[in-house]
Amino acid sequence: MRVWAIANQKGGVGKTTTAVNMAGILSEKGNRVLLIDLDPHGSLSSYLDVDPETVEHSVYDLFQQIATAQQPQVAAVIQETQFNNLFLMPSSTAVATLEKQLGTKNGMGLVLKKVLDKVTEQFDNVIIDCPPMLGMLMINALAACKRVIIPVQTEHLAIKGMERMLRSMKMIQHSLNTDLAYTILPTMYDQRTLASKSSLQTLQHNYKSDYKSKMSKIIIPVDTRLRDASHLGKPLNYLKGDSQGLVAYKKFVDTLIGVKCTVNREVA
Ligand SMILES: Nc1ncnc2c1ncn2[C@@H]1O[C@H](COP(=O)(O)OP(=O)(O)O)[C@@H](O)[C@H]1O
Ligand SMILES: [Mg+2]
Repeated sequence: MRVWAIANQKGGVGKTTTAVNMAGILSEKGNRVLLIDLDPHGSLSSYLDVDPETVEHSVYDLFQQIATAQQPQVAAVIQETQFNNLFLMPSSTAVATLEKQLGTKNGMGLVLKKVLDKVTEQFDNVIIDCPPMLGMLMINALAACKRVIIPVQTEHLAIKGMERMLRSMKMIQHSLNTDLAYTILPTMYDQRTLASKSSLQTLQHNYKSDYKSKMSKIIIPVDTRLRDASHLGKPLNYLKGDSQGLVAYKKFVDTLIGVKCTVNREVA
């Protein structure tokens, strides 16, 4: 089971879009995929037609159960979606209260890891959509994943946000006592604008890939079809037709799972 966390403390950079579309592509290939919504706003849950205001069971239950030394009822929280092989662990508005309730309690950083240990046989891929703030929930995601994917909008302010995220990760990995592998994924690239071009250059200049951290060669372009897909509540690969955004996400997934793909252009 491969576990990825999609994280960035900055909002609006394409985290939820990346999570949904990676999951859509992987599930269509026949992988069993679990999407986990750790954001109290519940955008990922809403995207997949689950209302975070009214959902009966959510990740909230699992945190409460583990905090009170009960067995986590993982199966009760996992929902099927209308897409084959694609499952959702939804968020709920109550998740917003977890930081305050349990944030300082010992051992609360490993809840998600414990939960995932129970489903290793059930899923090929787990994708965690993180909240845009550093706290207990984010720490849970980072402790449970094998690689962090950091979507960063190709614009200068967003790069500042990403640098903050990298600093936070350094801090967290120190306390988790692990080296977190990560991939920086440039998103919403608009080749017609100077701002996009120059911020991509800055990213590529400042961040080189090494054995653990990667600067993605695949760049996600601005693609209004990604917004259309979100209105329709579907991953883009379940809509008719190809588009630049879909092609890029497909290539990105291939590189993550180790399929060789040639990138001979900046924008896939
Ligand atoms: N590559 C893209 N092209 C066009 N719009 C995008 C793209 N990626 C995301 N969006 C849109 O930008 C907004 C923010 O994206 P979202 O994935 O919700 O960000 P986050 O989860 O980081 O807050 C959404 O309306 C989404 O549809
Ligand atoms: Mg989001």
